[in-house]
Amino acid sequence: KGKRAFIAGVADDNGYGWAIAKSLAAAGAEILVGTWVPALNIFETSLRRGKFDESRVLPDGSLMEITKVYPLDAVFDSPEDVPEDIKANKRYAGSSNWTVKEVVETVKQDFGSIDILVHSLANGPEVTKPLLETSRYGYLAAISASSGSSLSLTYIASERIIPGYGGGMSSAKAALESDTKVMAFEAGRKRRIRVNTISAGPLRSRAAKAIGFIDMMIDYSIANAPLQKELSAEEVGNAAAFLASPLASAITGAVVYVDNGLNAMGVGV
Ligand code: NAI
Repeated sequence: KGKRAFIAGVADDNGYGWAIAKSLAAAGAEILVGTWVPALNIFETSLRRGKFDESRVLPDGSLMEITKVYPLDAVFDSPEDVPEDIKANKRYAGSSNWTVKEVVETVKQDFGSIDILVHSLANGPEVTKPLLETSRYGYLAAISASSGSSLSLTYIASERIIPGYGGGMSSAKAALESDTKVMAFEAGRKRRIRVNTISAGPLRSRAAKAIGFIDMMIDYSIANAPLQKELSAEEVGNAAAFLASPLASAITGAVVYVDNGLNAMGVGV
């Protein structure tokens, strides 16, 4: 029987979440996605109108089917946590049951259970500010949206200095990598669930464009990494499908680099 995957953080066909969904679908998984509430409308409309059809094509020529799109805001656990201004916001008021606990309940009602959970989202409201100038609000918001889950996406800025990756996002990724280890232990002992994170190289996604230095990072990687090529989202998607599959049955608590090897370099050459 095919596995069922929930991928949180898909709102267009440019990011890692979409590529991971495709690789999992190509491997036979059923796909559910969680889409950030403010982006839901445009994502669903674009899907319906066939805007993503070209990017939905799988290696066997068929189109990836998304069984269901769930509205999600990963920074709220339950309705009590949602501030009034967000509740009243037009883009939120049109949807319901989008806090984390409600989504879990709805998925349970719809499908009973899932086999694979992917966290492919991040949000650092002050990502363009240096850490020194980051407010408490911005820092905590970055950590709140950007940590957690059984397979997630991280970035080398957690362990090495990447100027420009600000607003507490470097801290959020460090927390994410540490949590990956502790959760691997806890979930492994309790339920034999594996928890890993992929440290991905630079990709021109919507989120990355907002940071403002993505083209420079891509050029830097091509110039300096052991493998001198642009990284495709598909390469990260394939690594995610591997990690979620029984082929990776002994891999847990790991940070797996999918970055053309850039992390291994000590100096640029
Ligand atoms: P993306 O823009 O495709 O994905 C980020 C998603 O997060 C968006 O769909 C956005 O709507 C969603 N999101 C933001 N706040 C949310 C919230 N509160 N609740 C629910 N969804 C929310 O961009 P990308 O780059 O593919 O990001 C996916 C993951 O990959 C992130 O964790 C990112 O940090 C990580 N990553 C990206 C790299 C890159 O160069 N693009 C490099 C290394 C890691």
